[in-house]
Amino acid sequence: MTELDTTGALPIARSVAALRRQIAQWRKQGLTVGLIPTMGALHEGHLTLVRRALADCDRAVATIFVNPKQFSPKEDFAAYPRTADSDAVKLAQAGAHLLFMPGVQEMYPEGHATTVSVGGTITQGLCAPFRPGHFEGVATVVTKLLLQSLPDRAYFGEKDWQQLQVIRRFARDLDLPVAIEGVATVREADGLAMSSRNAYMTPAERQIATTVPRAMVEAARAIASGAPVAGALDAAKAALTGAGFTGIDYVAYADGETLAPLERFAPGGRLFLAAWLGRTRLIDNIGVP
Ligand code: PAJ
Repeated sequence: MTELDTTGALPIARSVAALRRQIAQWRKQGLTVGLIPTMGALHEGHLTLVRRALADCDRAVATIFVNPKQFSPKEDFAAYPRTADSDAVKLAQAGAHLLFMPGVQEMYPEGHATTVSVGGTITQGLCAPFRPGHFEGVATVVTKLLLQSLPDRAYFGEKDWQQLQVIRRFARDLDLPVAIEGVATVREADGLAMSSRNAYMTPAERQIATTVPRAMVEAARAIASGAPVAGALDAAKAALTGAGFTGIDYVAYADGETLAPLERFAPGGRLFLAAWLGRTRLIDNIGVP
């Protein structure tokens, strides 16, 4: 467990000790390290983060850990896709140097009792009220991953914009010596943001899902051209419901940094959306230029 597993597509560390030993070796050689935390079921979005890390750093370390603390009891922790073997192949092909894949016992040994909780406006709206405890779970595991590896830079997708702001906030507040890098959302040809959860959708739902980027672009255009915000958001909700979405958690226009709601056009504002298609929860966001 404390040794690297070098039998597969790329070396795998399953313990914090093995991870630290490899990174310490690289440090001794003066190499810089980029970290890419994921929950696996990797797609082009994740691999784009790996490529960004490789462009900036000498070594890229990807992590795969389906973090139980960020799923509420009613959520899809058990169903979350687990495809470690093909993930390792994809990471090796993308050029990653190491995969850190700890088990739940390694991350949260018996007695673990510490939570990282980010307050303020960032965790008041958008996904927070719909996913109680989620951002504490994310902040706790990402803090641990950053302290376990102490990379120069860590890479996160703008697809999960609220998560990215939460991570930026605690990294600053806790003086973590790591640069947090945001990477633009990678989309399918029809505009749908790539997501591990897209695999849950039936072909019919996948068709309907294209309404998300279309409705967001439409609302962004309306707000940018001075239309009332409430009307633009209502039109987007109507488009989702009309297309067959089964539930809408929110369609919101908010400041990109504080995530506080905006009632009229303002520079730095973004559109945010979370909606359900059957058992699949889709989230997305775009800037309003
Ligand atoms: P996961 O959903 O696997 O995503 C891992 C990283 O990939 C996150 O930073 C996410 O924003 C990014 N990502 C996902 N889809 C993307 C896309 N279409 N374009 C660009 N980046 C994309 O987010 C998590 O895991 C977890 O919450 C984690 C941060 C690993 C903590 O457990």
